[in-house]
Amino acid sequence: MAQPVRKAVIPVAGLGTRFLPATKTLPKEMLPVVDRPVVQYCVDEAFEAGIEHVVFVTGRGKVLIEDHFDYQYELDATLRERGKTAAAETLDAQTPGAGRISFTRQQKPLGLGHAVWCARDIVGDDPFAVLLPDMVMDGEPGCLKQMMDAYDDVGGNIISVQETTPDLAHKYGIVATGAQKGAAFEITGMVEKPAPGTAPSNLYINGRYILQPRIMDILSTQATGAGGEIQLTDAMLTMLKSEPFFGVSFNGRTFDCGSKFGFLEANILLALKHEDVREEVAGLLKSLDL
Ligand code: UTP
Repeated sequence: MAQPVRKAVIPVAGLGTRFLPATKTLPKEMLPVVDRPVVQYCVDEAFEAGIEHVVFVTGRGKVLIEDHFDYQYELDATLRERGKTAAAETLDAQTPGAGRISFTRQQKPLGLGHAVWCARDIVGDDPFAVLLPDMVMDGEPGCLKQMMDAYDDVGGNIISVQETTPDLAHKYGIVATGAQKGAAFEITGMVEKPAPGTAPSNLYINGRYILQPRIMDILSTQATGAGGEIQLTDAMLTMLKSEPFFGVSFNGRTFDCGSKFGFLEANILLALKHEDVREEVAGLLKSLDL
């Protein structure tokens, strides 16, 4: 039986340059999609999948994220004094339990691979999940839960993928596919941002991974790659030479909230699922004579 995945790493130390000036002082992970900060979608998805401990890799200017997952005494007391008990209890239920969340720092934004490596001491010698918070997932069950179900069958390393169109493949990490194995398929190669027309498939890596701990050893010696950053994909490619990787096609929708369009798309489409505003938003969209 595959060794259980109990910890998840959420890297939030990036600069968010695509969202300036909004992200000059506000972490991009705190931008709200409808009424939840982007990062909360990802934490909820992790706990829903059975993760017991979330490790944030943060950087300067990201303390708001830490505060968001803390108990806010004055807010709780004021809500209760004013009879808004349900709101107080919802906030309470959404706060991770004591000791279930850790924060470590990536002092310099040297790349995603380096950010994951910064969590090595907390992760220890167990398989772990990585969730990129700006990829907001809409699926039932959540994306990581779908991956965990496949992991229970096939073990190894798991990468979630989703279909893109050939004209957009050059923007993403793309996998090469091998034999089907239950709900998963073998990954035989990966290429980060392939030149137009050279992508080995139309399946892009959408920001969720289950990795075996040896990736940390590989990351410790990983040279810089694309963009002068230490890339997670490069380390996974090294590990692919000796360990199995499986892809799971996410049954749901991915919103790239690190880009302006993906963020707006998430706000509009998830608002249509939100009971407080659904009708008004649907009415607004219908009324637009575009
Ligand atoms: P992105 O590629 O979206 O980079 O990182 P970014 O710096 O956050 O944003 P842009 O491209 O400048 O707009 C993907 C994830 O990896 C984290 C980011 O915080 C994001 O969650 N990351 C990236 C780090 O934690 N450290 C890094 O050095 C790079």
